Amino acid sequence: MESIRCEGLSKRYGRAVAVDDLDLAVEANQVYGFLGPNGSGKTTTMRMLLGLIRPTAGRAWLNGRLLPDPDGLAEVGAMIEEPALHPWMSGRRSLEVLALSGPPLSPGTTAIGSVLETVGLASVADRKVKTYSQGMRQRLALAVALMRSPSLVLLDEPMNGMDPAGIREFRTTVRSLADSGTTVFLSSHQLAEVEHVCDRVAVLKSGRLVVEGKLSDLMTLVVRAVVAPGDQREACELLRDCFSLRTEGPDALLVQCGDGHAVNEILGRGGVWAHQIRVERSGLEDAFFELTGETPEPGAGTGHPEVLDATDSC
Ligand SMILES: Nc1ncnc2c1ncn2[C@@H]1O[C@H](COP(=O)(O)OP(=O)(O)OP(=O)(O)O)[C@@H](O)[C@H]1O
Ligand SMILES: [Mg+2]
Repeated sequence: MESIRCEGLSKRYGRAVAVDDLDLAVEANQVYGFLGPNGSGKTTTMRMLLGLIRPTAGRAWLNGRLLPDPDGLAEVGAMIEEPALHPWMSGRRSLEVLALSGPPLSPGTTAIGSVLETVGLASVADRKVKTYSQGMRQRLALAVALMRSPSLVLLDEPMNGMDPAGIREFRTTVRSLADSGTTVFLSSHQLAEVEHVCDRVAVLKSGRLVVEGKLSDLMTLVVRAVVAPGDQREACELLRDCFSLRTEGPDALLVQCGDGHAVNEILGRGGVWAHQIRVERSGLEDAFFELTGETPEPGAGTGHPEVLDATDSC
């Protein structure tokens, strides 16, 4: 069963193309990451899926229903813009008011107390929203999205403003939502945030889909070879004809290849003896930067080595 399908979905603003001929299929009960740098079209796509803006071209289905379909939207929760909440009400009261103002909560709908528990706001539920931090407001927005026990939730940059502990908890929440049958479609430009939680991802660049797939397939294997510092340049010369590579520090090379023996053999035949050869999985982050051409922000990332151009460094 597909939760989301888009065919040729496009949005133009005058001559500017925000979303360009997007084809996407999101299977149910998974966490799907919708990635891309600023301005790549993530929010625009979500707004089209939610019927907030009209596509210039293309079609989309939510839970098998061709959009626009108001009944279909009733099964969808969204956190796309900050919900308009009264700052003087408590978090709990805000949800109660929203529950009364929208369509009636269907039987079996998660009680408000339990949603507050799910998003980690139970202990501050009776405080006024104006006293909430940004991270708490994000959680309340998530509670609004989850209030009607949707089968699909669209979350636009849900982890913005959350602290590392909040992000960890959020990932657990998202995972358990998917495990209990809710499809989660979440956007992010921070790969480290989604790497640990998504089953599949799509990466957008300038409105176009540049890659889509299972996260494990997109993460590439690299061989880390450690050589004597004086040998690093020569090791690069030997390996660069066969593989993409980059250096790390004075003595290590990261070779884009999953075969440690092959790397060791080329080095050995060239008379360079490796102190250590290890196959590692390189983060999605590297793949993302290659795909989108984005430059990593200083200090950002998953702790993966700085990417160096082998031709500069060797
Ligand atoms: N109402 C609008 N009028 C004109 N251009 C728009 C409008 N909304 C979005 N755009 C443009 O469409 C492109 C995609 O914007 P969008 O907000 O979808 O990107 P995004 O991937 O969500 O970015 P971010 O990571 O910054 O949230 C951008 O170039 C943006 O300037
Ligand atoms: Mg956006």
